[in-house]
Amino acid sequence: MEQYAIKGGTPLVGEVEIGGAKNAALPILAAAVMTDETVHLDNIPDVRDINVLLGAMEAIGVIVRRESRHQVTINAANIHNLIVEDDNMRKIRASYYLIGALLGKYRKAEVTLPGGCDIGCRGIDQHIKGFRALGAEVVLEHGMIRTHSDRLVGNHIYMDLVSVGATINVMMAASMAEGKTIIENAAKEPHVVDVANFLNSMGANIKGAGTDVIRIKGVSKFHGTDYTIVPDQIEAGTFMFGAAITHGDVTVKNVIPKHLESISAKLIEIGCEVMEEDDSVRVVSSKPLRRTNVKTLPYPGFPTDMQPQITVALGLAEGTSIVTESIYENRFKYVDELTRMGANIKVESSTAIIDGVSKYTGADISAPDLRAGAALVLAMLSAEGFSTIDEIKYIQRGYEDFHLKLKKLGADIELVESEKDVSKFKLRAI
Ligand code: EPZ
Repeated sequence: MEQYAIKGGTPLVGEVEIGGAKNAALPILAAAVMTDETVHLDNIPDVRDINVLLGAMEAIGVIVRRESRHQVTINAANIHNLIVEDDNMRKIRASYYLIGALLGKYRKAEVTLPGGCDIGCRGIDQHIKGFRALGAEVVLEHGMIRTHSDRLVGNHIYMDLVSVGATINVMMAASMAEGKTIIENAAKEPHVVDVANFLNSMGANIKGAGTDVIRIKGVSKFHGTDYTIVPDQIEAGTFMFGAAITHGDVTVKNVIPKHLESISAKLIEIGCEVMEEDDSVRVVSSKPLRRTNVKTLPYPGFPTDMQPQITVALGLAEGTSIVTESIYENRFKYVDELTRMGANIKVESSTAIIDGVSKYTGADISAPDLRAGAALVLAMLSAEGFSTIDEIKYIQRGYEDFHLKLKKLGADIELVESEKDVSKFKLRAI
């Protein structure tokens, strides 16, 4: 089984190129089926979740051409099936974006429901509420969500909670409904704005994305487009925290510094220097890390997808820090693994109380999910001695070439496949 072998203790130093945002690329790929004309997409990250979605799209008749590693051409003129039943789709949350896209274009969609997840219960009631408000019938049965409608008609929809997925899904369907839709209490994440910009580039009429209220005038047809996905805020944030945790000096390139403000602000609070340029941010960590408190919130608050990374950093900060998770109920599972590396953290429901320690020590552990997996790798890079982490398929769902990018920054990390490889790595690294 693939795992990473790591020898800790080397600061991350250098420049790292950030890829396109997975969480923007997923809905944009799904939305690309809403036109019969060809769509050219650039800056698509080469990560597992994207490849699973592309496979499911091909299975219903979408022609997908990988022009290069990050460029994909989509043509959905010959979709022959509105039932998306790919087994792998249950494993990715973003499978549900095909519902909004297909419902908008064909007034019908049946998609395998996303399965359980390791970070807590993840409802889809707001998606369903939005589709029903547009006039669709929605039933959940046999592990599928089935929707259809003779007419989709715009409506005034108030989301009960701020949901990235529901905002995007309803926005997609509404952009091809008759008349006007207003989505109130909408999510404001950069990827929501990116999807709206993409839909507009295909001929949609969407205003207000990035604010609480999105206004949509439905149109009947979309056309082809060329579009480049925004840089990945969370990949960038992960490397920025990598600099903090290993006391390094890392410049993340090809980013939008505005999207990173809540992350930069916390890094400054804990004692790092952060220097912004037009499309890069440099983080230098030369002093001991300081304690702070943080609560995850929808954008522009501190992202839940950065919660494990900041917890790993605060585990090494002087004093007591408190991290409160307000988006997911079960996103501290990785703390048990971090404790095995010497962290002193107590979790009480949605709060982690962290007493900083002076160092982590290497251990053999498993990645519990995508972001926690990446955060534990950062902990290992700072730790004394050797570590291994398995179940890295989770990390590969959302980080392209994670170990190669870390290696380029000076990390002593290898992708290994057997215990023999681990022993070889240890012998070499002693
Ligand atoms: C997106 O998930 C991201 N995934 C997540 O990233 C991210 O953590 C999350 O947004 C929050 O920023 C993708 O974009 C593919 P939500 P999403 O709908 O859309 C509850 C990563 O690591 N909720 O904003 O599923 C839900 O249970 C992943 O890349 C309902 O109750 O998130 C959660 O507690 C992990 N009913 C909260 O809202 C609904 O109908 C936020 O969920 C919808 C959501």
